[in-house]
Amino acid sequence: SWTTGNVIDEQVAAIQAQVGTKRAICGLSGGVDSAVAAALVQKAIGSQLTCVYVDHGLMRQGETEQVEKDFVAATGVQLKVVDAQERFLSALAGVSDPEEKRKIIGREFIRVFEQAQAEIVAEAPGDQPVEFLVQGTLYPDVVESGGGTGTANIKSHHNVGGLPEDLEFQLIEPLRKLFKDEVRMVGQELGLPDEIVQRQPFPGPGLGIRIVGEVTRERLDLLREADAIAREELTAAGLDREIWQCPVVLLADVRSVGVQGDGRTYGHPIVLRPVSSEDAMTADWSRLPYDVLAKISTRITNEVADVNRVVLDVTSKPPGTIEWE
Ligand code: XMP
Repeated sequence: SWTTGNVIDEQVAAIQAQVGTKRAICGLSGGVDSAVAAALVQKAIGSQLTCVYVDHGLMRQGETEQVEKDFVAATGVQLKVVDAQERFLSALAGVSDPEEKRKIIGREFIRVFEQAQAEIVAEAPGDQPVEFLVQGTLYPDVVESGGGTGTANIKSHHNVGGLPEDLEFQLIEPLRKLFKDEVRMVGQELGLPDEIVQRQPFPGPGLGIRIVGEVTRERLDLLREADAIAREELTAAGLDREIWQCPVVLLADVRSVGVQGDGRTYGHPIVLRPVSSEDAMTADWSRLPYDVLAKISTRITNEVADVNRVVLDVTSKPPGTIEWE
């Protein structure tokens, strides 16, 4: 029968057999999946694992610091942080198509990992080669990305459909058969704290797929501010456990007319996309209290320059996906 203990024992044995005495790296995204995958692999191979956190500049406010602090404190894992903001921004320059963005982000991730791999080898040249890449791919990611065949049915999750063909790593994907709630149980059993295990999902491509239109530094800054306000108010209202996640999306190519103070404005809309779900395969829009929505809307339009409208997405999945891209 299915128990978290069995899953852990099975995966630990499988990972040990697969890796042997070689070394692995694991990309940490700040999310639950990569954290649990990393903790599981660390349990299996200990210091043969190095975690790599790619700061691609598409993270939300405070996220990089949280990974550096909380995850290392909880696991004692070896962590390498790579500042790759410039690299991702220039690769994404001029690109608006969602699938193209996802492919670029997936590709750049791998390139950065390859570079990190070379650095890890250079730092400890006598050691075994770094041949394995750990990914926190879940069952729904596999299904929605076309079973890892590279043909996206719906969208290329960066950790499945978006990998380049000349990948230099062998993959370790210990969560490939699990759903999110199971991953959370495994994480808990592995001793990860609630701040990590109960985190709401956040996509690997980050805010890059929450800007409808081209991704620029200014737009990222703007979206980060709006997102931080929405998160702060949802947390203050005690709604974190009730909603599955709440993407905040910037419609960067849309402007609408508004009025503020004594003048006309012509700014961008921000979309709130709170959803409830069991496993992200299907979802319903969350019926958030109107006063919470009002507070978020007032604060965002007052505090975020160039945003003059906040709209609520009232679409279930299907037909909408959770993310807008
Ligand atoms: P969609 O938009 O497909 O999202 O309904 C389903 C769930 O997956 C998350 N998501 C991703 N997670 N890499 C990830 O690790 C990705 O490329 C990716 N795209 C979407 C999304 O936030 C939701 O929880």
